Amino acid sequence: MSAGPNRREFVASAIKGAAVLAGAPLLTIGGARPRRPRARLAAGHIEILTAEPVGVIAPEIQGHFVEHLGGVVYDGIWVGEDSRIPNYGGIRKALVDALKAIRPAVARWPGGCFADSYDWRDGIGDPASRPRRTNIWADDANIRNLGNIPARFDPNRFGTNEFMRFARLVGAEPYMAANVRTLPARAFAEWVEYCNSPKGSTTLAEQRAAGGDPDPFNARYWGIGNESWGCGGNFTPDEYAMEFRRFATWPVPDYGVGLRFIGSGPSGNDRAWTRRFFEKLAERREVNRMWGWALHHYCSARNGEAVAFDEPAWYELLTSANRMESLITAHWDLMSELDRQHRVKLVVDEWGAWHGMTTNVEPYHLFGQQSTVRDALVAGLTLDTFNRHADKVAMANIAQLVNCIQSLFLADEDRFLVTPTYHVFAMYAPHQGATSLRTEFSAPGAAWTDGDGNAHSLQTIDGSASMHDRTLTITVTNRHIAEAQAVDIAIRGASVRSARATTLRSRDVHDHNTFERPDTVRPVSADVAASGTTFAYEFPAASVTRLDLELA
Ligand code: AHR
Repeated sequence: MSAGPNRREFVASAIKGAAVLAGAPLLTIGGARPRRPRARLAAGHIEILTAEPVGVIAPEIQGHFVEHLGGVVYDGIWVGEDSRIPNYGGIRKALVDALKAIRPAVARWPGGCFADSYDWRDGIGDPASRPRRTNIWADDANIRNLGNIPARFDPNRFGTNEFMRFARLVGAEPYMAANVRTLPARAFAEWVEYCNSPKGSTTLAEQRAAGGDPDPFNARYWGIGNESWGCGGNFTPDEYAMEFRRFATWPVPDYGVGLRFIGSGPSGNDRAWTRRFFEKLAERREVNRMWGWALHHYCSARNGEAVAFDEPAWYELLTSANRMESLITAHWDLMSELDRQHRVKLVVDEWGAWHGMTTNVEPYHLFGQQSTVRDALVAGLTLDTFNRHADKVAMANIAQLVNCIQSLFLADEDRFLVTPTYHVFAMYAPHQGATSLRTEFSAPGAAWTDGDGNAHSLQTIDGSASMHDRTLTITVTNRHIAEAQAVDIAIRGASVRSARATTLRSRDVHDHNTFERPDTVRPVSADVAASGTTFAYEFPAASVTRLDLELA
């Protein structure tokens, strides 16, 4: 610890317990009367250690994921150039405008499991001549009786040039997922050539130009397969290591782009899989060919309700989301043994809350679900986890952008809304590119009992902090479903001049946005009375908060 009292002294003095005036601004939520600040004993403590940087938060941590699945592409993103729905060259205007505003650094496409069946050549050239292909999700029980819809039979209207148009419009870098299961390495090399070979240089560059893009896309990020232990080929780690080498080994022409290959990681926290794969790559000194190692983590609660969840399911979902922490640290520790200099970073290229029961707005929006205040907390606590491990996590992609698992948007024909999860991304945008600082959060646990009668406790508040110039951004989730948390916040090594809070909460934790009431859940901002090196703040129950502190 660098400046000020050490942690034990700090906690002790706080516990002795000067009553602190709750610092939360007066808020009016949904017409309710303003709440009075109450004098409360601070039970929680946050220390921000401004002299202890963790690393720069990669903007790509706030990345996205677009798969040809259900209503993600067709209806969600692609509405068609001749549509009455406002669009930019066929791409839904409202979605572009909203997404661009939150600075989406990167977008992954075309899958997911779909990627390992996709032939990129089907999605280029004259749209009228592109083949229709059976989507791998066609037989899913939820859509198999819905006829010849795009979710089942892909018209290939949205291909590489269209995806690049989308990425350009929103300001995201493309992250392409290559097909390892059903295409040879040559097809991958040619996709790279199609995307990146210089203007006029190759036949594929000319085909790209015919699609409207003479200039190369300079696509840097290339995933070598997806979930290769499962839908991506059902490979053993030994087999996948062989495939990885076949696809990514030198020479894949780089075209001066600086290609970054991402290996498809294990199922869940299967460290044996990771260990074996790295060992096999190391045998041929190929670990260096990999830039990132992909992890996936979907959190869930047993009762599976997206909206009508009960209190245990609130805590169960957040506890499940919180496992991101151990997924990252366990893998990082293991990788320390196999890649001592940590040249390979972690890429969490699928994460989100996946509820068992669907609440989609259209039956063909496969895995479509509503996003409540609970999902907003999943987003906040997960982004905080990535921030705290900014030295380890180089990219992350929430699954999936629109009309799907934990989406930022729901769209149906001309109807469109942003979810509470979107608002969390907007709130966390200032962390992008800022320096993550070491933080210490201590707080009481929220006690909860699972369906089997087992007692658990979840730390009520946690979060992250980052610094950019003289602005300190602190984001905090209060996971207690019903109780506000009074907290002392100490800024070690700096002093606060002014502060402002942005808070996302709602009257009811089940609240969510609908096409009829799109602003039910949205953040509210207010000034906060805070100055000096320590101040008190009260985080409302079931909330996500961002504090913007201007430092003296
Ligand atoms: O996001 C939905 C699916 O979940 C993806 O296609 C797959 O990679 C994962 O199992």
